[in-house]
Amino acid sequence: MSSGAGPTGGRIDTVDGTDSDVTAVRDDDSDGPRPTDLPLPPYPETLGHPAFHSLHYMRSPVELLNRGGREQDIFRAHLAGVGDWYQLCHPDHSKRVLLTERDRFRKSDDFGIAFGDGLLTVEGEEWAQQRKTLQPLFVRESVMGHAETMVEQVQRRVGRWEGGQQLDLQSEMTDLTLDVLFAAILGRELALDGDENIREGAEALHDWFLPTSYPLPRWMPTPARRRFRQGKKTLQEEADRLLDEAARNPPADPGEADDLMSLLVGLRESGMADSGMFTDEDLRDQMVTIIFAGHDTTTTSLTFALWALAEHPDIRERFHAEVDALDGPPTAEDIEEGRLEFTDKVVTETLRLFPPVYALPRVADQDVQFDGYRVPEGERIGVLIRRIQRDPRFFDEPEEFDPDRWTDEFRQNLHDFAYAPFGGGPRICIGRQFALLEAKLSLATIGRNYELYYLGEEGDHDGPPLSPQMTLRMKEGQEFLVTER
Ligand code: HEM
Repeated sequence: MSSGAGPTGGRIDTVDGTDSDVTAVRDDDSDGPRPTDLPLPPYPETLGHPAFHSLHYMRSPVELLNRGGREQDIFRAHLAGVGDWYQLCHPDHSKRVLLTERDRFRKSDDFGIAFGDGLLTVEGEEWAQQRKTLQPLFVRESVMGHAETMVEQVQRRVGRWEGGQQLDLQSEMTDLTLDVLFAAILGRELALDGDENIREGAEALHDWFLPTSYPLPRWMPTPARRRFRQGKKTLQEEADRLLDEAARNPPADPGEADDLMSLLVGLRESGMADSGMFTDEDLRDQMVTIIFAGHDTTTTSLTFALWALAEHPDIRERFHAEVDALDGPPTAEDIEEGRLEFTDKVVTETLRLFPPVYALPRVADQDVQFDGYRVPEGERIGVLIRRIQRDPRFFDEPEEFDPDRWTDEFRQNLHDFAYAPFGGGPRICIGRQFALLEAKLSLATIGRNYELYYLGEEGDHDGPPLSPQMTLRMKEGQEFLVTER
């Protein structure tokens, strides 16, 4: 990603999120009305009576959130088992929630229920300690060191593709990103056609967020929730096995560890008490968190990037010309020396139009106001990343896939929270450099050998059909035709 300012750029990239350009402004400190005097944001008229919002949501959360966001920058939706849900659709709002006023918001309990006390979930001092502990695995130097492993894993899997074959890319890319994550970060190579228990377990983690189950009361044992529990148990068992292996041979110096398990076990064995993760359960939670956060997001990005290339022949040709000009399989140096610049823009634009995390959930810790409306303490908030990244106030022709929009000048002038596929502020995605490297190397490896054509259905939103879960995926079963180059 370029060095342009923004939540994904280098500027807001510290553990404590310190950003000297930003002054926290609390708009309830003024003489104006206190938040408690203000009206609640409206339910959008186009969504009909709130009693029907859950049905809309179960049918299509994207449609529900899009329709609301077209009317105003803050609105309310109502989900039967969850309650009111306050949706924010302006980058000024994202900036307040994620950065300047972040102490007034916390993560919703969904993450805790799903992933225990992993990095995605914890707050305050515990979060700061965990983030500091894991950071060495995700700094640029460590991440770049995985480039060769990434390319090997991609070659291993896509080397089996044959011209004329039809592929469900969503499922193929899921296997691929799990291969890469395990080989690079979890220190274990998965079997190409095996380790089904891990693959199924990872898939089941998403069932917690399935729209047909999510709005229902929490006590209700839906089939999706049962699958989720079973999948999580399987991954916890795998975490125990990996921990046992790592504990048999702990690194003498945890600073030397290059995978998650050795790092965590090394810290514990060497008695470094400030890691914030001591018990086997803590370590298990961390591993399940990394599996969840670290593969489906990249799967989704790759699937949509390949869809966009398949659907835009002129862009595809320029992409192929760039990857064909490399001396061999792509390397970290190719990226650092700018030889994959257009591929970088394709990835950037894919993450704009199809941000895998399409809404960031939070809860207000106190009454707050946005645009003259009140969000009461304890209420759920969604920062609508997808809506904001398709807003014509910030992006010309926002529904068009146009990698060329990402000039240096455009990046410099863009509102710093108008493009936030990795979130922003101190809780910005820790794995973003890993994800971007993986996406570019995977696309280049695939593009040097294959050309793909989309054979699937048209969806409702100028693109392929979607399947919103925690991430916004392409619906399974959409086939692509593989041709060899
Ligand atoms: C294209 C790929 C990815 C996207 C779009 C993405 C997106 C995000 C977003 C939006 C957040 C912020 C969530 C919030 O504020 O509530 C986040 C956090 C996180 N991501 Fe990613 N992610 C990606 C890849 C990865 C990878 C590859 C890993 C690990 C290997 C990872 C691990 C995490 C973790 C652990 C957090 C929690 C960070 C914290 O709270 O301090 N992500 N990600």
